[in-house]
Amino acid sequence: MEIKFTPTTTPKAKPDETKLGFGEIFTDHMLIIEYTKGKGWHDARIVPYAPIALDPAAMCLHYGQEVFEGMKAYRAEDGRILLFRPQENFKRMNVSNDRLCIPQMDEQMMLESLVELLKVEKDWVPHLPGTSLYIRPFVIATEPKLGVKASDTYLYMVILSPVGAYYKEGINPVKIYVETNYVRAVRGGTGFAKVAGNYGVSLKAQVEAHEQNFTQVLWLDGVERKYIEEVGTMNVFFMIDDEVITPALLGSVLPGITRKSTIELLRSWGYTVTERKLSIQEVMDAARNGRLKEAFGTGTAAVVSPIGELKCEDEITIINDYQIGPVTQKLYDSLTGIQWGKTEDPFGWSYEVKVD
Ligand SMILES: Cc1ncc(COP(=O)(O)O)c(C=O)c1O
Repeated sequence: MEIKFTPTTTPKAKPDETKLGFGEIFTDHMLIIEYTKGKGWHDARIVPYAPIALDPAAMCLHYGQEVFEGMKAYRAEDGRILLFRPQENFKRMNVSNDRLCIPQMDEQMMLESLVELLKVEKDWVPHLPGTSLYIRPFVIATEPKLGVKASDTYLYMVILSPVGAYYKEGINPVKIYVETNYVRAVRGGTGFAKVAGNYGVSLKAQVEAHEQNFTQVLWLDGVERKYIEEVGTMNVFFMIDDEVITPALLGSVLPGITRKSTIELLRSWGYTVTERKLSIQEVMDAARNGRLKEAFGTGTAAVVSPIGELKCEDEITIINDYQIGPVTQKLYDSLTGIQWGKTEDPFGWSYEVKVD
């Protein structure tokens, strides 16, 4: 597919890399591809970053027909720009598209068009250790119509945002609140897809957890309210004795790409990793008996985030004395090593964006 390029006439000043936050600054250009029923995906273009015009009746605004992805471009020490398993993000996006009745997209076309955008924006990939360029591909339903049905028109867009190091002063274990009142997803719903609605419904619990000084919420299954699912924007792992356990993907948990990579790395190091149903009771019991060695979340934003404290109803559990455990640390070092091109990449996960 041909991509038309309209360069900006007013390039922005690059931000101070020491002061980058998350998702607040956007680059000079964005990618747009349109979809029209009967015509397919068409009119790919890279244009100056700017607000878009939407009809107030655009269906995404009323019925939440939206999907998105989140990934990063990393700057290696030698200047190369690297992506981490980008094909997995586009594969997952098509799974999300399917669940929301959005037409499938050619995954190769998504990757190639992202590479074109990154070539234009190459100078926006920051250089400081731990910084990266966050990539947000998304699709919105644009048909102007009030009436619940699948839209006949869509916009696929990619916007880019330079982001700061997640851990500025060493890795801080997080405090997690086990949510026993609200639920995020149920089997048969949309938990396995990356759709806006999943995040809208999670806000209430997040606000209440923040008010009590917890970083994130640990979701339990929506039916029995017993089994662990995932944390805000991370999948979770618990090391009980010598077994690393993570909830099985039964339809209500997002299949994280960091989760998948973590399982593959741990297994390659000889650890037993089990994907199964894991009740919060089992974790709290293991903690009480001194068998819970480490707990951590995995996701694109933080890579690996140790869990230092879990609060479930009235019981508080401190894990590994609020310290990052050796397995969590090794995973963090290995994943970030591959992502920033510092270490060998035995699985071929790095994808170099050839900019010249
Ligand atoms: C709900 C949820 N779970 C898990 C993850 C981790 O997924 P990944 O490792 O692909 O970033 C994310 C982040 O995208 C998320 O939003």
